Amino acid sequence: MIEVQDDDLVIFTKVTKSFQTPAASYTAIRDVTVSVKRGEIAILLGPSGCGKSTLLNLTAGLLTPTQGQVLYDGRPVAGLNPKVAYMTQQDHLLPWRTVEGNVAVPLELAARDRAARDERVTELLALVGLKDFANSYPNQLSGGMRKRCALARLLAADRETLLLDEPFGALDAQLRLTLQAEFLRLCRSLNLTVLFVTHDIEEAAALADKCVVFQGRPGAVARVLASPLPRERDLMRLRVDPRHHAFTNELWDLLAPDLTGPTPTATAH
Ligand SMILES: Nc1ncnc2c1ncn2[C@@H]1O[C@H](COP(=O)(O)OP(=O)(O)O)[C@@H](O)[C@H]1O
Ligand SMILES: [Mg+2]
Repeated sequence: MIEVQDDDLVIFTKVTKSFQTPAASYTAIRDVTVSVKRGEIAILLGPSGCGKSTLLNLTAGLLTPTQGQVLYDGRPVAGLNPKVAYMTQQDHLLPWRTVEGNVAVPLELAARDRAARDERVTELLALVGLKDFANSYPNQLSGGMRKRCALARLLAADRETLLLDEPFGALDAQLRLTLQAEFLRLCRSLNLTVLFVTHDIEEAAALADKCVVFQGRPGAVARVLASPLPRERDLMRLRVDPRHHAFTNELWDLLAPDLTGPTPTATAH
């Protein structure tokens, strides 16, 4: 039994998810028990194919567990979870809409009136540093700008919890660091709860309050580690922070057997 705490917002209890394929049943995650507190950044870390995206899909209510239970704010997730905003691995920006048009989508879906919508879009674009690109189309943006746009759209949904699937995956190291720092600042200022998937150990150690390490196929929780860093942290200084080094090394040690294991056979994103 896990001990459920008052401030646990997302609770997975002994969750197994299997997929039926024409040939066989495939188990993606097995017996996963994990919880995320309100206001916490939980990093889901593990190699490709260990079920990280499946966990986000279960939290979003896009999938139902084969066994076990997923609770959100005390209730089983049944159908689409209206409290979460989800940034999937592909950013899915609409190519025929400008940056501001993309960011406005959740506000249009929520039927906000035109003036309120415009005001919020302007605010969000300023927040992610894209106000000079409001009228650009996605194909005119760099990779980093696309991510910022997707992030602004995510925030436009105004949900208490963010699910992010390798959001900064394809970016160069410096840009990634800048976006991570901005992301962290945003999460803290809005007190967001975050489930953040990555396979990047450095990123996990930089952003985590809690790091859930997955191993194996089917994926299972190997360890849950609390970050040694304070909630407020300067990502630009982590390179010289011994606590960060120790944490990163601990994560490497946990993941090394999987990372050096056999090449995955199934497609894993
Ligand atoms: N809808 C599905 N049908 C069949 N197999 C799936 C489905 N979704 C995921 N899987 C399989 O489950 C495993 C875990 O997938 P996923 O959660 O995407 O892992 P990760 O995000 O850690 O790379 C993979 O082997 C994947 O092929
Ligand atoms: Mg994935």
